[in-house]
Amino acid sequence: MDLFPWVGFFLFCSFWSVIFCDQEVRLLTSSQLDKSFSRTLTTGFLSISCGGSTSFNDSSNILWTPDTTYISTGKTTSISYNDGTSLLNVSARFFPDSRGRKCYRIPVDNATSLVLVRAKFVYKNYDGLGNPPTFSVSLGTAIAATINLTKDDPWTEEFLWTVNKDTLPFCLIATPNGGSPVISTLELRPLPQGAYTSGMEDVSDKLLRKSYRIDCGYTNESIQYPLDPYDRMWDADRSFTPFHVATGFKIQLSFNQSSLMEKPPASVLQTARVLARRNMLTYNLLLDALGDYYIILYFAGVLPVFPSFDVFINGDLVESNYKINSSEISALYVTRKGISSLNITLRSISFYPQINALEVYQMVDIPSEASSTTVSALQVIQQSTGLDLGWQDDPCSPSPWDHIGCKGSLVTSLDLSGVNFRSISPTFGDLLDLKKLDLHNTSLAGEIQNLGSLQNLEKLNLSFNHLTSFGEELESLVSLQILDLQNNSLQGLVPDSLGELENLHLLNLDNNKLQGPLPESLNKETIEIRTSGNLCLTFATAICDDASSTPTIETPQVTIVPTKKHNVHNHLAIILGVVGGATLALLIICLSVLLHMTKRRYEVSHTAREEMDIKNWGAAKIFSYKEIKAATGNFKEVIGKGSFGSVYRGKLSDGKSVAVKVRLDKTQLGADSFINEVHLLSKIHHQNLVSLEGFCHESKHQILVYEYLAGGSLADHLYGTNSQKTSLSWVRRLKIAVDAAKGLDYLHNGNEPRIIHRDVKCSNILLDTEMNGKVCDFGLSKQVTQADATHVTTVVKGTAGYLDPEYYSSQQLTEKSDVYSFGVVLLELICGREPLSHSGTPDSFNLVLWAKPYLQADAFEIVDGSINGTFDIESMRKTAYIAVKSVERDASLRPNIAEVLAELKEAYDIQLRFLESI
Ligand SMILES: *[C@@H]1O[C@H](CO)[C@@H](O)[C@H](O)[C@H]1NC(C)=O
Ligand SMILES: *[C@@H]1O[C@H](CO)[C@@H](O)[C@H](O)[C@H]1NC(C)=O
Ligand SMILES: *[C@@H]1O[C@H](CO)[C@@H](O)[C@H](O)[C@H]1NC(C)=O
Ligand SMILES: *[C@@H]1O[C@H](CO)[C@@H](O)[C@H](O)[C@H]1NC(C)=O
Ligand SMILES: *[C@@H]1O[C@H](CO)[C@@H](O)[C@H](O)[C@H]1NC(C)=O
Ligand SMILES: *[C@@H]1O[C@H](CO)[C@@H](O)[C@H](O)[C@H]1NC(C)=O
Ligand SMILES: *[C@@H]1O[C@H](CO)[C@@H](O)[C@H](O)[C@H]1NC(C)=O
Repeated sequence: MDLFPWVGFFLFCSFWSVIFCDQEVRLLTSSQLDKSFSRTLTTGFLSISCGGSTSFNDSSNILWTPDTTYISTGKTTSISYNDGTSLLNVSARFFPDSRGRKCYRIPVDNATSLVLVRAKFVYKNYDGLGNPPTFSVSLGTAIAATINLTKDDPWTEEFLWTVNKDTLPFCLIATPNGGSPVISTLELRPLPQGAYTSGMEDVSDKLLRKSYRIDCGYTNESIQYPLDPYDRMWDADRSFTPFHVATGFKIQLSFNQSSLMEKPPASVLQTARVLARRNMLTYNLLLDALGDYYIILYFAGVLPVFPSFDVFINGDLVESNYKINSSEISALYVTRKGISSLNITLRSISFYPQINALEVYQMVDIPSEASSTTVSALQVIQQSTGLDLGWQDDPCSPSPWDHIGCKGSLVTSLDLSGVNFRSISPTFGDLLDLKKLDLHNTSLAGEIQNLGSLQNLEKLNLSFNHLTSFGEELESLVSLQILDLQNNSLQGLVPDSLGELENLHLLNLDNNKLQGPLPESLNKETIEIRTSGNLCLTFATAICDDASSTPTIETPQVTIVPTKKHNVHNHLAIILGVVGGATLALLIICLSVLLHMTKRRYEVSHTAREEMDIKNWGAAKIFSYKEIKAATGNFKEVIGKGSFGSVYRGKLSDGKSVAVKVRLDKTQLGADSFINEVHLLSKIHHQNLVSLEGFCHESKHQILVYEYLAGGSLADHLYGTNSQKTSLSWVRRLKIAVDAAKGLDYLHNGNEPRIIHRDVKCSNILLDTEMNGKVCDFGLSKQVTQADATHVTTVVKGTAGYLDPEYYSSQQLTEKSDVYSFGVVLLELICGREPLSHSGTPDSFNLVLWAKPYLQADAFEIVDGSINGTFDIESMRKTAYIAVKSVERDASLRPNIAEVLAELKEAYDIQLRFLESI
């Protein structure tokens, strides 16, 4: 009974071998087909010889290239070793510096959906130290595998990566005491669309790491390209358990090759393992790690009999009575969670259990990326340090950047102590998940600012700086537990509001210039306060200890520091610094005197209204609030919004359209400042500056009335909604750029006092109906008053993406800051994208960082697609050149606006001539 099937089987075989005669011919045709298919496919192959120095074709005619274009760190070596049959000679790159990630950045064609990434690691004692390294490798944000060259040398890994970026970061990450990571080859192979997804739930957040790929029943060398056109490595079926008989059946496959997404190659399906004597065929496979696995079993109806069987995986019946049909390829896709070994068993129902190939993959979770706001904020911070901190790709995964700590994909700590910042830039306020911020010894001066949004911050270290004022934002840090302000120059009183921080338990104020009583609100058992090395700092109830009040010989002084707090109309707050033997009583007296003085000042400014009317206002008219209300139809149509308030559309009684800008209460200037500013604005008339028609300053209202420009803003045209968006031609863009540069040139050079715009951006360049450009919103401007002044020191936010990186360290805005911002506008005109984009790869978030290298290399593929082919190369080159110069980090290397204007005019003329010539 046991013999019968075999007899029948062999009969079948001889019978078929006769019939198969003409199919042998087809076998040839089929492998020829494979080959021609492969030849076209190799174009998608990328084979990198790590540490290699020349390109070469291997025996399969695959082109290998050196790795120098993909990585810039590490050292190279060549390794010779005997693989048992022959002497091999490979190159390698190794990384003796064990800090951080060492990444290959490999371009991937996003038209492919899935790639096979294969890496080979060889140690073979190339360094003579006899110390094989252990390290991790990552793909994108995922740690994909741990390489232990003690265990296996050489070591090969294969991964299947779902393409979601145009660059694949492949990194080697050292482990502590693990030795120097080393790599020999890295290969990328596109896989068929849609493959390796069947039977899996979430494909997108999974990376597949190959555990096994077995060509069942095949015992020779492993199969690769060109037999598998996708160049997967199919290993021979070596681990025969005692009771199994392997049979290699070389039978022509005449069935539909594309019925399976994975397209297993014909030569793999031609062989099978078939059970002969027992009714169970088992593969016992050890797995590297406890984890989730993806299993594919391939079956091909290559035999003249058509078996059916039950399929068990680790004892679970996953398919009962599975049938293999004649001339059909089929596959079973199974996932198993939390397993560390695999038992694949086929239990016969009729004929013999049979399997042609199998693949087993570990499913590795891909951690999500940090938010783009965080990434671009960190990039701006890196840019502002002027240092290369090596911050690339994702800050948290696969391993956190240097100086950064993460929880999941959240950046929770940042330690930049020792970097020269000078001030806390607004960008720090975007790192919303921070729990710990260490900026000690970073040369910070002035007030503590821009951190108010960090609601999760628990530890803030600003010690060893030159800070002079607490600022007003500390009280917003509701989670704050430890505040270290020691060794600064903080002056005056400790703000009462610190007592509102309920979680605060350590406040270190050692070695500052603070004095006076500590606020009672801090007099709690839960807070430890360190105060030594100040002038005289105790709770009012305690007696000032002479020893702690460092005696100085300074004369008593009163310092008036401008601040914004709770003072709508003016910005004078008072800190009294009474040094020496001044008593509290004296303090109070001084305070009340000063308060009185301020109040009087305030009254004075309000009576300025009458004086105003007599001033010479140029062309600007004075409007009453009633007139403004009528003109705007009671503020009906909002056409713009900003941090200063809203802009409304209006129509004056003479029919003229106007834009009415109403300042919010909190952005209102002191009466004097407002009048000064209006006075200044009313004198500025230039065809490329939006002109002031008039203003209203009445009962708490500060309103500016501007000419209305019907063409909208440049930003509307570039990025607006469909109705606003127009496809601006290159010549049109250049004309607008020339116009705007003329306007800025007038502000910088054509006018006394000189004016720095401070907020140049696309939405501040307006267009009239003839598409002439005009710069607006220079109301925010500060005049450069002193004849010798080279800068203005202000607290200004500017607009993210446009702000001069030098501003962060210098706190000084100059005309060159406007040039920087205008350079960003030029880059936008060239590339047709916004300065900060929150899509794409982290490398492309920041327009300046992204575009610069391309433009410097005359690589115009980043030019806005909608003007492609319509611009003169020379005109583009000139514009790109001046744009890139304008965004130089070092302000002294930037051109001035007049130089920018001259270049743009030339670029414009060239483009005009080009258009005439075609
Ligand atoms: C590799 O082979 C291709 C054609 O098969 C040839 O064009 C190329 O020059 C070769 N490259 C090297 C480095 O040998
Ligand atoms: C291996 O290659 C290196 C550099 O290409 C060469 O110097 C060395 O002689 C080669 N060794 C062998 C055994 O081929
Ligand atoms: C591929 O990349 C190009 C440019 O990088 C982009 O325009 C295109 O939309 C991308 N295609 C897909 C399918 O992602
Ligand atoms: C590497 O493998 C060797 C041999 O299997 C083992 O003894 C060693 O502990 C492994 N090293 C690490 C870091 O896992
Ligand atoms: C095994 O493979 C080698 C080369 O890869 C080939 O020359 C040999 O004929 C193969 N042997 C069998 C039995 O297929
Ligand atoms: C092969 O199979 C694919 C997918 O099942 C199908 O779309 C295609 O039409 C088939 N081709 C032939 C020649 O049967
Ligand atoms: C493998 O699984 C089969 C079916 O569940 C079982 O009979 C067999 O004992 C298992 N083999 C091993 C080695 O665990």
